[in-house]
Amino acid sequence: MGQNSSQGATMTKPVRVIVVGAGCRGEIYSQFASIHPDRMKVVGVADPRKFARTKLQRQHKIADENVFDDWHKLAEREMFADAALICTPDRLHKEPAVAFAKKGYHILLEKPMATTAEDCKAIVQACTQSGVMLSVGHVLRYDPTIHKIKELINAGAIGDVIHIQHFEPVGFYHFAHSFVRGNWRNEAESSFVLLAKSCHDIDLIHDWAGARRCVKVSSFGSVSHFQKDDMPTGAGDRCVDCPVEKDCPYSACKIYLDRVKQGHTGWPVSVICPNSYPDIESVTEALRTGPYGRCVYKCDNDVCSNQVVNMEFEGGLTAAFSMVAFTEEMCKRKTTIYGSKGELSYDGHEVHVFDFLTQRSTKHTAKSNTPMHFGMGGHGGADYHLMDAFISAVANNDPSLIRSGPEETLLSHLLVFEAERSRLEGRVVCPATADINQS
Ligand SMILES: NC(=O)c1ccc[n+]([C@@H]2O[C@H](COP(=O)([O-])OP(=O)(O)OC[C@H]3O[C@@H](n4cnc5c(N)ncnc54)[C@H](O)[C@@H]3O)[C@@H](O)[C@H]2O)c1
Repeated sequence: MGQNSSQGATMTKPVRVIVVGAGCRGEIYSQFASIHPDRMKVVGVADPRKFARTKLQRQHKIADENVFDDWHKLAEREMFADAALICTPDRLHKEPAVAFAKKGYHILLEKPMATTAEDCKAIVQACTQSGVMLSVGHVLRYDPTIHKIKELINAGAIGDVIHIQHFEPVGFYHFAHSFVRGNWRNEAESSFVLLAKSCHDIDLIHDWAGARRCVKVSSFGSVSHFQKDDMPTGAGDRCVDCPVEKDCPYSACKIYLDRVKQGHTGWPVSVICPNSYPDIESVTEALRTGPYGRCVYKCDNDVCSNQVVNMEFEGGLTAAFSMVAFTEEMCKRKTTIYGSKGELSYDGHEVHVFDFLTQRSTKHTAKSNTPMHFGMGGHGGADYHLMDAFISAVANNDPSLIRSGPEETLLSHLLVFEAERSRLEGRVVCPATADINQS
């Protein structure tokens, strides 16, 4: 255990973390150490990709003996840090989370917690039994403006919450990148989209509903457009030599090659060259040979491109959620919450409250002191605030600083699994009272 972290004393030394999975998320969260070297130090890493683990090793001057090509080897070592950042692919969350929790590491676990309800419960159980803190990567809970919504509800600004309408625009090229060509395209390899992408949103709705339990849920959704039947006549297998590429908004040449030609090497370009820094040559090669150069109408994608979820909570509160791939906006959620005394709206930037009594509207903004360098400005600065909360929680042995802790996150994940069950079985599901201790 890190310096006195389990005895309730405030740490005076930086919190030592190990990074399990040095991909996009592992690298972003690690940057907190570069911004605040007095508060966090990266002391170990495991990743089978040499490029990724070496890059992180160089950035954080990690000792050679603490660099591994697989998380098992890191877990076999005597505990040598305070916390583990688990940033492996969706299907590789449960095993490392349980293993590192049992060793006594506090856990920051990327969302989704795991790909089955049983595994989510096992993770919570392991953390509870080991007495370690668990923070799940529900970054939106840490977005200062989105957090304002919760504060306004709690302050009674709109009276009793009666109905929640929440919209998630994924963004047309983001969807093509991640959910048609990329890592989250196929449920058997990762998870269904409501879990992979929209667990953030069901979690927010669950949070806004307060202590009320969801009693009924229904869901519909399917894969639209990104299928062979929608393929333009004459389309090639790869965009780089497709005769109709110019007329295709999802062309990989437009999404990646045009960007790198303009000097943009961040996401999504960085993702497609997993073993090198992206430049015109490596991106062209990736489009010729890798998954991201494929025609979007000829991929092995099976996750929904549009899905709706309707929920009824105790006391009659209703909620309607929609996720759509085909949008200009990328991930900027839009929300309206109707209360007994007012209406709250969030347009992805600002929160407005219309008061029924005074018939006046007030604008609410939230200050963010996010350092916008590196990738830590991601998710509207929420990535930074999540790390800030987690590192403070570990340093001060204060789990109350974590907004995405084990119990509430497990409950919202269980709701996601029930919603997907409704979609697959074509019926309204009445979620059972969750027994989070039952594995
Ligand atoms: N919180 C968010 O908003 C958010 C956003 C994007 C992704 N995610 C989640 O974060 C996780 C990671 O996503 P990413 O985009 O960083 O993916 P990524 O592919 O960039 O990173 C995953 C890394 O895990 C490594 N890995 C694979 N097997 C391993 C093993 N046995 N031991 C150690 N490392 C191993 C891979 O080599 C890869 O570098 C996923 O679960 C994803 O769903 C969360």
